[in-house]
Amino acid sequence: MHFITFSLIACCSLALGWANEWGYPDLDNNQDEPFPKWGGLCDSGKKQSPINLHVKGSLKGEFDPLKFANYDEHQKNLKMVNNGHSIQLSGFDHELTLSGGALLHDYVVEQIHMHWWSEHTINDIRYPLEVHIVHRNTIYPNMTMAANFKDGIVVIGVLYHVSNTRNEAIGSIIKSLGAVKAYDSMNKPTLVADSLAVDDLVPSVESYFTYAGSLTTPTCAEAVTWIVLTETFPVTLDQVNEFKEIEYEEGKQLHNNYRELQSENNRAVVLVEMPEDRSGAAGLTASVSLILTLVLVGGQKFLL
Ligand SMILES: *[C@@H]1O[C@H](CO)[C@@H](O)[C@H](O)[C@H]1NC(C)=O
Ligand SMILES: [Zn+2]
Repeated sequence: MHFITFSLIACCSLALGWANEWGYPDLDNNQDEPFPKWGGLCDSGKKQSPINLHVKGSLKGEFDPLKFANYDEHQKNLKMVNNGHSIQLSGFDHELTLSGGALLHDYVVEQIHMHWWSEHTINDIRYPLEVHIVHRNTIYPNMTMAANFKDGIVVIGVLYHVSNTRNEAIGSIIKSLGAVKAYDSMNKPTLVADSLAVDDLVPSVESYFTYAGSLTTPTCAEAVTWIVLTETFPVTLDQVNEFKEIEYEEGKQLHNNYRELQSENNRAVVLVEMPEDRSGAAGLTASVSLILTLVLVGGQKFLL
């Protein structure tokens, strides 16, 4: 039941039969293939996502810490589906609730999916993988309703950087990927065999970019408060390549599923950073703090 609902939202809010009426250029085959027009708000919107996030030009923000409830719970009944546009996880045992930060409401996790390569870039750098944890504002009964309001949805974006070290949490997802890769199994959910806790997919949440944007798939509803974490997790390219093998048509693999960058259009992008007094030993003198501040402002932290 949940899966049908989510496919509808992820696609076009139309009918399942339309699931593949929109798609991505196959950049592995032709780097110059233009990005297709998806129509509606995707083409006309002024608060679209993803965007390039950059330290220079961001506003400095300070908020209460983000609060996470049940993200550490090991999921027993997590389902995975190849919806032709991504790999999506849902079916959480209990409500996973996000609050705090600049958020005025409680948000619950609806689904998790990934993009290969990343949709957001940080300081013009694209990462090999981006995980989206999609949350719905609990004042709205479902995602369709939430997508109509600018405070309807929060997506946490987690970027992964290339490493020689396999990522265990991503590895748990990959273990069940074989069952959903083929076109025949598209839109047929399978159980995620390994026990996974959602916070295994989330690095430090003390530092992040936040801005008002949109879903990155049709309908491109401008209902999303984005929280893109600045800390990244390692993943191997072999692991990312496993996702590239999922089929969206008979014999056609989804080599990439990231949307092209959108115009920032003078939107405020806020950079929330770990308070400096927590980044070093207690008893730092004011002058040492000042030096630390200058180093951070110099952007060293983001030359990844
Ligand atoms: C979402 O909620 C609204 C209002 O309760 C309802 O009319 C609509 O049918 C629901 N949509 C889905 C897809 O469940
Ligand atoms: Zn996404």
